[in-house]
Amino acid sequence: QAYAPFDIIIFGATGDLTARKLLPALYYRYLDKQIPPQTRIIGTARSPLTDDDFKKRIHDGLVEFVQESYQDPENIRNFLNLISYVSLNGAEADSNWPELQAKFEHNKANDIRIFYFATAPRLYGDICDNLALKKLITPTTRIILEKPIGTSLKTAEEINQRVGKHFPENNIYRIDHYLGKETVQNVIALRFANPVFERLWNSDAIDYVQITAAETVGVGKRGGYYDGAGALRDMVQNHLLQVLCMVAMDPPISLNADDLRNEKLKVLRSLKPMTEQDIKNNTVRGQYTSCVYKNEKIPGYLEDLGKDQSNTETFITLKAEINTARWGGVPFYLRTGKRLAKKVSEIIIQFKPSAWNLFATPPKANRLVIRIQPDEGVSLSLQIKDPQKTYTNLRSTSINIEFPTAFHIRYPDSYEGLLMDVVKGDPILFIRRDEVEASWRWIEPILDGWAKNLTPLTYYKAGSWGPQEALDLLDRANHVWHENM
Ligand code: BG6
Repeated sequence: QAYAPFDIIIFGATGDLTARKLLPALYYRYLDKQIPPQTRIIGTARSPLTDDDFKKRIHDGLVEFVQESYQDPENIRNFLNLISYVSLNGAEADSNWPELQAKFEHNKANDIRIFYFATAPRLYGDICDNLALKKLITPTTRIILEKPIGTSLKTAEEINQRVGKHFPENNIYRIDHYLGKETVQNVIALRFANPVFERLWNSDAIDYVQITAAETVGVGKRGGYYDGAGALRDMVQNHLLQVLCMVAMDPPISLNADDLRNEKLKVLRSLKPMTEQDIKNNTVRGQYTSCVYKNEKIPGYLEDLGKDQSNTETFITLKAEINTARWGGVPFYLRTGKRLAKKVSEIIIQFKPSAWNLFATPPKANRLVIRIQPDEGVSLSLQIKDPQKTYTNLRSTSINIEFPTAFHIRYPDSYEGLLMDVVKGDPILFIRRDEVEASWRWIEPILDGWAKNLTPLTYYKAGSWGPQEALDLLDRANHVWHENM
């Protein structure tokens, strides 16, 4: 499907996100012929670059981050023709705005205009004020805001309020790239198009839920940002809570943006607030330390950071509870961390075991595994008769669907679909203001409790599955992490 040509202006365009994610995503959609040649991609940042300097960076990014079989030199050349650069500090009113304004004078502009904010969130308000001052906002102009929106409820409210002065809520696209992942969106299909699951999707049948986003990488060059944020702000407040909403929400009355977001909001508002005792009992925070792997030393967090001391968590496990008729009593274990044993994001739905038994050993409870990444797919564990033994004996196996092989398609990166949704004007997969604020409202007491050291920082070896305390937390309820099942 081809879209109308559009103008996308990226603030913070010399950053990692633009080269690694945004431009490769637009390039793929250009190859898919969704982006017509009149489209303009305008990078802006403070660095004094020429158009050619900027295109060279983007070219290098495409070569590094686009799959090799899609790197046709002529296509890349044509795509680079859409790109230009303006050296500009968007947060300052007396910066080089005339050069940007000139791009929209004398009927040069496309009807659809999108500003992408890939800068520090504390600059969002100033940039919006300047866009208004420089008369660059049309009634249909859309803005895309990268996470995290603020660092606390108060700062999130301030950003939302300042941005909201210039843009109606439906033109504000707060991006959470986890909602762009096919496998996260697939939770809607899996649940609401398969009654076999939805009928069991409640505390009668489900014992507990695990949502993991584990990474093998450390903080890399992002230490400056990360050390001030930590895993709770970087991953849980946004990505993991959004995934939790997709798993836990009630069916929306339609697949229209506000109907779906109303249901997610209900989940966020139903999260049981953590008391000080809950914070002590149900949260674990860890930081990775160095280790030697295959004779090679993997640095710890402090070494990655180049600091002697830091209290920032790079790992979290917490037990959340949702106070609704559907979910009362079902723990939702959330876990994320850097430098863990494996890069894997997944949702585990652990069903309750059978209350009675006919067999030589009690059957294992069924388990639904939704693999977000890598190896995108779904599997359901089942018990079958052990073919090598008599009928009283069971063996565990699973029904497994691997999406890329099942559908023989290139699995798109999350930014691709999300960017095209903004061009289309569909905010369904973007976070509404009230959702951001509701998730901060739940997160903030945990941050406060940690600031009082209710949960002391624990340490884990790089390359492990995190601190022992994360296992103990589940163990106390007789629950187990998926990799140990
Ligand atoms: C980002 C976080 O939002 O998500 C990063 O800021 C993290 O710290 C990344 O590495 C993980 O995304 P993905 O898609 O690789 O799971």
